[in-house]
Amino acid sequence: MHVRTAPRRKKPFRSIAGSLLLLPHCWTPEQSSPEFICFSRLLGPTQGGHIGQRSEVCIFSRESTVNGMLTIRRPDDWHLHLRDGAIMKAVLPETVRHFARAIIMPNLVPPVVTGADATAYRERIVALLPDGADFEPLMTLYLTEETDPEDVAAAGESGLVKAVKLYPAGATTNSASGVRDVTRIQAVLEKMAEVGLPLCVHGEVTDPAVDIFDREAAFIDRVLDPIRRATPDLRVILEHITTRDGIEYVKAQNSDMGGTITAHHLAINRNHILAGGIRPHYYCLPVAKREEHRLALVSAATSGDPHFFLGTDSAPHTDRNKEQECGCAGCFTATNAISVLAELFEKEGALSRLEGFVSLHGPAFYGLRANEDTVTLAKGAPVSYPEKIMTPDGPITVFNPGFPLHWSVSRHDLNGETPTQG
Ligand code: NCD
Ligand code: ZN
Repeated sequence: MHVRTAPRRKKPFRSIAGSLLLLPHCWTPEQSSPEFICFSRLLGPTQGGHIGQRSEVCIFSRESTVNGMLTIRRPDDWHLHLRDGAIMKAVLPETVRHFARAIIMPNLVPPVVTGADATAYRERIVALLPDGADFEPLMTLYLTEETDPEDVAAAGESGLVKAVKLYPAGATTNSASGVRDVTRIQAVLEKMAEVGLPLCVHGEVTDPAVDIFDREAAFIDRVLDPIRRATPDLRVILEHITTRDGIEYVKAQNSDMGGTITAHHLAINRNHILAGGIRPHYYCLPVAKREEHRLALVSAATSGDPHFFLGTDSAPHTDRNKEQECGCAGCFTATNAISVLAELFEKEGALSRLEGFVSLHGPAFYGLRANEDTVTLAKGAPVSYPEKIMTPDGPITVFNPGFPLHWSVSRHDLNGETPTQG
């Protein structure tokens, strides 16, 4: 095949969600590299593939930015802790600035267990939204061994609740009322499968004999896979995946299985927590693992595989509660998660797949429409975010990725006027 021309497009090719939706049909993919993808098309009548047949080659940059700007559909957060009262009031604006919707975790004290609890919590969230915010809290229920399948089904069918959360009892913050014996929730899981309500899973065993760094892998074997086999029609999300084992398990499953990945687990490994001094603001659950696991997470998040989507697990705790003899688990990332992700995706040559990860795969899994409005990321001098968010209960430290963030996020307000930056 003769290459007649190899014109490089003046303007970088810009794709939607990394899928090459804008390509005309007559172009066939030929070769690709992390930076470029090459397409060819035949010119003139086909001559049975004989030498001499002319074709034209066009190379498109995979880079999806135009003049250092990237516009994507507004992201959603598929795992978020808002807490309640004064803390919620302080942290809500941080999420609303960049995200359109979020799956709201139910681990309050006491937890959000019934449909009535979820209705009340939703009203408290909506009452504290900043003026003019268009943000939709997607409510969840906290699964206990006493959960009533009919209450769950009614909350799901009415549209109030979008998922049910399984915390193994004692696995993490406010999980004491969680599940000890999964066989005792089988009736609820079957009902959820019947009404199409997904199960969000905190994937760690609590067996003290299992090393904390192995608890996710043990959970997959001992709990997750048995749940999948016992209830194959249940849609399940393995949340905040931290291991290669978690990634490989989810990847091998059908489209009824999804996995969320946080920004902080993509940015740090366990050395960040423990080497050169103990850093409580990097401590969260599941705890960050070895570098090889972080690399597996980065590879999955940037791969374009629709099994994987963003759930920040942004989990605010005051500095007082983090910096003490027995500090709380949780990283607070709502403020800068999108900038952190843009930096990481750019480093992987995968900016064109950022939209899939933060804005498309999640709604597709949950059977919801992707957001119509957009945010624009712009590359420039390092962006500064506040180090702390002030609350009446004391400051909350914003996650520090340990590298400069060059991508700012802006959003045109509803009237299409001044963009809000952050
Ligand atoms: C979360 C919290 O603080 O509520 N903490 C955390 O480390 N991620 C709970 C959780 O999701 O495990
Ligand atoms: Zn969480």
